[in-house]
Formats: sequence, structure tokens, C-alpha cells
Amino acid sequence: MSDQTSRFAPRVFSGIQPSGNLHLGNYLGAVKRFVDWQDRDVETIFCMVDQHAITVWQDPADLARSTRELAAGFIASGIDPERSILIAQSHVPEHAQLAWVLNCVARMGWMRRMTQWKEKAGKHAEEASLGLFAYPALMAADVLAYHATHVPVGEDQKQHIELTRDIAAKFNHDYGVDFFPETEPVIEGAATRVMSLRDGSRKMSKSDPSDASRINMTDDADAIAKKIRRARTDPDPLPETIEGLSDRAEARNLVNIYAALREITADEAMAEVGGQQFSQFKPMLADLAVDRLAPIGAEMARLMDDPAQIDAILARGAERARAITAPILDEVYRIVGFVRPR
Ligand code: TRP
Repeated sequence: MSDQTSRFAPRVFSGIQPSGNLHLGNYLGAVKRFVDWQDRDVETIFCMVDQHAITVWQDPADLARSTRELAAGFIASGIDPERSILIAQSHVPEHAQLAWVLNCVARMGWMRRMTQWKEKAGKHAEEASLGLFAYPALMAADVLAYHATHVPVGEDQKQHIELTRDIAAKFNHDYGVDFFPETEPVIEGAATRVMSLRDGSRKMSKSDPSDASRINMTDDADAIAKKIRRARTDPDPLPETIEGLSDRAEARNLVNIYAALREITADEAMAEVGGQQFSQFKPMLADLAVDRLAPIGAEMARLMDDPAQIDAILARGAERARAITAPILDEVYRIVGFVRPR
């Protein structure tokens, strides 16, 4: 760890947007890794970023349902709301309050260079919401409101964490303070990037119109098994080593899913399944997936039956979060020269 971060106690923050279903890609690429962090006894904060979600249109009833479903997914996957702080972003007002200050630190040119902005706004930038443009400054506020030192994210979010570091450094420089840490991105490896079951060149996504392209965490055993048996593959048997999968995206994806669910490396997986026909490998993978995922889906359904309990957990999370964020925001307000009410 660099000198910059070592002054700050290690603290992990990450967020997921509550839009659409939680699927296998979110689970293996994010939530399961969050559980590993929690179990390493580091302070961990996990957030349903509902305020990021509305940067593009969300049906209000769907947003509320997705937020509770995501909370249920976190808990069913092993996030313990006593050991981790589990929050809805809009419950903790310091995120948006700090975001305003950071909006005034970040430069237009920095924001315009963001790949995700360019991709999402595309040719219709004039019609995009102002919130979509400012999205990365709110993300920086999420992280910096906790002085978080480590942020596990996918490769696509790396640029936003680098921007967070730039914003933190400019704030420290402009105000002549050493207040915000330079947060480290912790990037997921290719092995945990889950691709579509219909097209191995595309990420598994909640926005793919084909439901067969993804395994939803709420799918029952039948649906999980059926989707794996029907996953697109090529006619050849699996090679003996991982190198043999380099130009076989669909086969590689299934092996990666197998390895991630078994919690072994891709090399170890090949030692087990190399040379197999898909007619042998797929049923085995289907059994494994059902074994690991169906209990999570069932627990999610049980939790979703009692939304009041989920809401109580999130209220408690927000209270614990604010014990961290309120003093940090207060200090930011003092640093920038806002007169504080007494
Ligand atoms: N932008 C992230 C994504 O789409 C979600 C997110 C919002 C986030 N705030 C964050 C991730 C803070 C890490 C830290 O995946």
C-alpha cells in the first residue's frame, strides 16, 4: 500500500445499480467478491446506488422493487448486514451533498473524456440528463464520503476510480489539505467476467433482450439447468489446457463459470474437465450451478416476502453509514468555508 493510503485505515466500498435483475454476472463478478472482502475482516460498505440508476429513466415501482431485490441478493449471497454496512444510497444524504462539492472540483473536460459517458450519451448528448454527465462525480462522492481506500469494480469502472483519485488530489491541492485518500481500484480478473450464454463476445447483461443469455439469481433449478444445457457452444470437445480456449469464447465462458462456482482456478478446472464433450460437461455444470445458485434464489424469495424486514436492515445500515459520513462531510464543509449552523 502506498504512503498516501496507509494513513487511512483500509476500508472497502462498492456499489451496484438497482436496475433490472441480479444475474450470475453480478454475482460472480461483484457480490461474491464482496463477500470475500467481508470475510477478510476489513471494514466493508456495500451500496445500492439508486441515485445513479435514475440518471436514465427508471419506472418508480420497478426501481423500488429492484432496490429491495438487490438487498435480498446481497444478503442471500452472504453479505452479513451486521459485519458489513449495507445501504441504499438515497438513505445517506451525505453522498449527494458531497457530490455537489465534488461537482465544483471536477472539470468539464475530465467528465467529457469518460468512456461510459461517451458510450451512453452517444450522439444524443444534448438529450442526456445532466445527472448522467455528473454520474462519476457522485460515484467519487460515494467512495470519498467514507475515505474508502479500496474499491472492487469491473474493468469498465476503472476510469471512474481514476477520476475519483484526480478529484481527491485536486481537492487536497486546491484547499491545501491532505484530507481525501487516493483510492485504489481493485479490478476483477477476466475469469470472473461472465459473458452472455448466447454470445461469448458480450458481457452477461440485464439489458440483453434474450432471457436465455443470462442466469438470473431468482431463476429456479429448472430454468438454471435449461439455460446451461442450451448455452451456445461449438462442436469440438474441451481442449486439455486453458490455452486451447483462447479463440473459443463460449467454451471458455462455461469453463470460467465452472471454475468460479467451484472456487478453483481455470487451470485447475481444465485439469478436471479437459477433453470432455459438452454432452458430458454441460450436465455437470448445470448440476453445479443449481447446487450453488438455487439456494441463493430461494433465500432471496424468502427475504422478498418480507419487505419490511429488508427496509429495517437498510435503515440500520444508513444509521451506521451516517456515523462515518456525517463527520467527513462536516469537515469538507469547514474546509471549503461554508459557515456551519450552531
Ligand atoms: N458505477 C458503478 C457501476 O455501474 C456503480 C457504482 C456507483 C459504484 N458508485 C460506486 C461502484 C462507487 C464502486 C464505488 O458498476
